[in-house]
Amino acid sequence: MEKKGMTREDEGVLSHAWLFFLALGVGLVFIDPFQLGPLGGYDYRPVRNEIAPYKEVMEQWHGDNGSRLRFGRLEFVDEVFGPESLEFDLQGHGPYAGLADGRIVRWMGHSLGWETFALVTPNWSEKLCANGIHSTTPLQHTHEKLCGRPLGLRFNKTSGELYTADAYHGLLVTSPHGGLATPLATHDVHGNPILFANDLDVHNNGSIFFTDTSMRYNRKDHFIILLEGEATGRLLRYDPSSKTTHVVLQGLAFPNGVQLSKDQSFLLFTETTNCRVMKYWLEGPKRGKVELFANLPGFPDNVRMNEKGQFWVAIDCCRTAAQEVLSKKPWLRSIYFKLPLKMNFLARMMAMEMFTVISLFSEDGEVLEVLEDRGGEVVKLKYRKTLVILGRLRGRERPILVTPQSSRFCSPPATTQRLPPHRSEREIEYCEWLEK
Ligand SMILES: *[C@@H]1O[C@H](CO)[C@@H](O)[C@H](O)[C@H]1NC(C)=O
Ligand SMILES: *[C@@H]1O[C@H](CO)[C@@H](O)[C@H](O)[C@H]1NC(C)=O
Ligand SMILES: *[C@@H]1O[C@H](CO)[C@@H](O)[C@H](O)[C@H]1NC(C)=O
Ligand SMILES: *[C@@H]1O[C@H](CO)[C@@H](O)[C@H](O)[C@H]1NC(C)=O
Repeated sequence: MEKKGMTREDEGVLSHAWLFFLALGVGLVFIDPFQLGPLGGYDYRPVRNEIAPYKEVMEQWHGDNGSRLRFGRLEFVDEVFGPESLEFDLQGHGPYAGLADGRIVRWMGHSLGWETFALVTPNWSEKLCANGIHSTTPLQHTHEKLCGRPLGLRFNKTSGELYTADAYHGLLVTSPHGGLATPLATHDVHGNPILFANDLDVHNNGSIFFTDTSMRYNRKDHFIILLEGEATGRLLRYDPSSKTTHVVLQGLAFPNGVQLSKDQSFLLFTETTNCRVMKYWLEGPKRGKVELFANLPGFPDNVRMNEKGQFWVAIDCCRTAAQEVLSKKPWLRSIYFKLPLKMNFLARMMAMEMFTVISLFSEDGEVLEVLEDRGGEVVKLKYRKTLVILGRLRGRERPILVTPQSSRFCSPPATTQRLPPHRSEREIEYCEWLEK
């Protein structure tokens, strides 16, 4: 079960030592004086990352040899683009999702479809922002700040207000009736701007914990954050009584999803660059301490809790041996990515062929379940387009897979009537498994 399928991933640069030297040689010749490499124009400062040994992590990781994720069903094709966090409101309506075009939308059922619920900035305009599928590509980058890019969403379970972490506009809140979101936090208590708010969760006492992925780059440059390994990300806490934002943790390498535990004694956050989930204690003897929760076979995105207090983590898989070498040798990365070659090519040379994995963890970080789409048959991931999120549909927990192009889920039994009668045996098997 273990490592099948992973071996292919080993065949990256590492096993082709000659390629390394070629890269080195060519790199030394072209120290990119003309900024031809993919990082031309950036003040690229790679740093060393403390990533767990590739071999150790992969040997312990039990994949999903049935690749069950591929039996999911494609939903909302070409209806919403780039949906991130998915939430349901107090009445159970939704899902709500933040889109690549800057809107927060909600699903109103089959007859009404998706409607715009909120905008994060008054500067949003249909003409500039609503670019359909193109809003998920670099074509949107020049407008992204103007249009907004809502990522993490959570409802206040008392008031029904919607809190949003927007990659460009910080932390915001929208009334239960929707409309224009109001900024809550754009700077921390020291006056530093919140450059890349990513995900949030709300403590029972009203504090909002949220991640700020980097103090140097915003979302459109998220790939550079990964390549540099820079660790200027933070975990922040917005205090509603004083309306100030406090720095809880700093020096994090691409902090991404955040989720409080069921009893609120700790929270988890993912550190994408370091391929791991971290635990931050809020109560008890370890209060204020950070510890490793789980090392992952790939790059985590969001983390969400189910009703049992277990955690689903969405992962862009997989790490490679070559990537580990590069992450520990920033000087080599500096040369490699300055080669005047296309980023796709460079990434391919590192055997970075991505597919989607979602994994369920116990409160103690034990792996309970792994679902993979190994062939990328269902969830298409490209190097720069990622993000699979988990959500709940009408109260029932199940994985909801979201790609920039579409949302996909297998959803028994609430939507059994929506499933075509001619489901394949595999689909039925998958749905039954989910129902268990
Ligand atoms: C998957 O793993 C299980 C348990 O190790 C094994 O029984 C089964 O035959 C494997 N299936 C495939 C398709 O390899
Ligand atoms: C909207 O655009 C104006 C003019 O470019 C700018 O000054 C303002 O900061 C923008 N507002 C937001 C919320 O981004
Ligand atoms: C939710 O809204 C209520 C009413 O405005 C407020 O008192 C509370 O602090 C907010 N936060 C939480 C977590 O309930
Ligand atoms: C709410 O809980 C968090 C986490 O324990 C804590 O940091 C914060 O100070 C608390 N806020 C209030 C107002 O008690």
